[in-house]
Amino acid sequence: MPNDTAIQMNELRAGTTSGDLMRVVIVGHVDHGKSTLVGRMFHDTGQLPDGKLEAIQEMCRRRGMPFEWAFLMDSLKAERDQGVTIDTSQIWFRHNARQYVIIDAPGHREFIRNMVTGASNADAAMLMIDADQGVRRQSRHHSYLLQLLGVREVAVAVNKMDLVDYDEARFRQIETEYKSYLEGIGIQARRVIPISAREGDNVATASDRMSWYDGPSVIETMAEFELPESPVDRPLRLPLQDVYKFDDRRILAGRIESGRLHVGDELVFSPSNRTARIASIESWNTGEPATTASAEQSVGITLDEQIFVERGEVASHVSDAPIETDVFHLRLFWLADTPLEVGKTYGLKIGPRHLNATIERIERVIDVEALSDHEATKVSRDEIAEVVVRTNQLVAIDNHDNLPRTGRVIVYDRHITLAGGIVSMGSYPDQREQITIRSSNLTEVDHGVDNTRRAARNRHQPGVLWFTGLSGAGKSTLAMALEHRLFDEGYQVYVLDGDNVRTGLNANLGFSPEDRAENIRRVGEVAALLSDAGLIVITAFISPYRADRDRAREAGGDSFREIYIKADVATCESRDPKGLYKRARAGEIQEFTGISAPYEEPTDPELIVDTSDKDIESCLDELVAYVKANFAVTAK
Ligand code: ADX
Repeated sequence: MPNDTAIQMNELRAGTTSGDLMRVVIVGHVDHGKSTLVGRMFHDTGQLPDGKLEAIQEMCRRRGMPFEWAFLMDSLKAERDQGVTIDTSQIWFRHNARQYVIIDAPGHREFIRNMVTGASNADAAMLMIDADQGVRRQSRHHSYLLQLLGVREVAVAVNKMDLVDYDEARFRQIETEYKSYLEGIGIQARRVIPISAREGDNVATASDRMSWYDGPSVIETMAEFELPESPVDRPLRLPLQDVYKFDDRRILAGRIESGRLHVGDELVFSPSNRTARIASIESWNTGEPATTASAEQSVGITLDEQIFVERGEVASHVSDAPIETDVFHLRLFWLADTPLEVGKTYGLKIGPRHLNATIERIERVIDVEALSDHEATKVSRDEIAEVVVRTNQLVAIDNHDNLPRTGRVIVYDRHITLAGGIVSMGSYPDQREQITIRSSNLTEVDHGVDNTRRAARNRHQPGVLWFTGLSGAGKSTLAMALEHRLFDEGYQVYVLDGDNVRTGLNANLGFSPEDRAENIRRVGEVAALLSDAGLIVITAFISPYRADRDRAREAGGDSFREIYIKADVATCESRDPKGLYKRARAGEIQEFTGISAPYEEPTDPELIVDTSDKDIESCLDELVAYVKANFAVTAK
């Protein structure tokens, strides 16, 4: 390989060339002519090594086979030393002012795998349809995938027009059918081009066999594709590949996925949530040390403080950090023969980080043919589904819509890739605020009165009875009735109720996922304080997120009891005491729990009170009995 080409290729790979570089994926059914198109594009723009075409033609003649453009590409791929920068699935290509990486996925599964796992980062796609065969299931599947992955620059090449006698009517029929499908999924095809890759019609130049078509050729259309916004201009994300220790220095190494960093910047590492400033950007050559680096560069940095950060953490600026969560939606492309199952734990790879995640729910399986959804209990090979996953630790992640490169995960089992997925938080909150501690230099002081003395005077143990359940399940009603009964029996007891607290302490919070999380954090802390003061505290909040309830449990300590006031959505909706379900169904209330926002049932509550099949009095009796058994009034 000539040196300059090698250098050019390495630069391209490292992403350090500042020129106009566009990654175009050629997408199509296995025999719709992708390799032929790529071969023809090389030839028609004069990029083939001298004599190569003739050599392959000669080889075909000797063996008595018809010449195929695909042979040429195969041979280039096999040799890879022809002065053409070519890789197994990526071919570098230059035309006019623009450089292209043509991504050619050999088969359907490989295409899906490469696209979903991020092995191929395409900026644009050329979809190929066989004029003879028309739009096939795979064509729809592929375009659906492109849409989900956010590839917006799309054109269609209707190939093998020679096989249909360059018939305009056939072309128009395919054009209409496919365009309407694409529009149905939100893709506006920039062009639909009738071509014959084999004959060279409308590949690089206009065809004189299809005078009825006056649009641009494939190559001309590629020049029309607009480059996406540079990842450099997006928020900083530097997932750490490794932490190297040299003497007492630690170098944090990784590839910047988006944004840029400067020496002196304050970084936050997620999910540990530790912060420090960049002391230096290390360089591997002897030149001047860099003071700045940006997306697609691999860097090593040192920090001004020796904080403990690990491989897999994501460095970002403090003001625009990734989401921290242990639960999110994944849109999955299931590639494995064994189906996905609810409740099963899989390996999850998020950038360089590996951890375990459990599939909590399958929300829907998408039918790419009919563009409809259906409920399912498993997801089979080649199906697309939306699922909810829960990780065993907090992870740093982005919404794919916002930052595609850090909004993507791979699902695996014993080193085998099972699926690729893209992340969306939907109605789950970013939990970062809940774990961020902003105060420092604090010294806690002890109370002079200890808990034993408080309990002795009150003649009962303190406690937090954390009621959780849907709106209308009966939390407030039971909480107030229980308060009454316990008070009458001599308990120091107080109710914190959602609707009440939201008019005061939490008046500044609404029902966004983050506000709900904060609502519960505050109430969890207040309940812990009241319990510390010796009271039995009953809380009546939907508290829909498991992570928030777990934090309330942590705050409440030993006295905390999670009590699930259970009634399903249908029951609560039929009661609808405040008329809110009706309004939620009418779209007047957004993000209403159970209708348009999630409720995560407790997995291991201390008590379940099922209100759907019992009257209030018997539920109350259960609760009173529970309190007496657990927090009994003791004799003086
Ligand atoms: S929580 O989700 O943050 O725990 P909380 O228990 O404080 O909710 O408040 C729930 C009460 O607020 C409901 O009983 C209902 O009266 C009212 N409400 C108003 N909007 C909503 C909504 N979008 N989702 C649920 N409850 C709502």
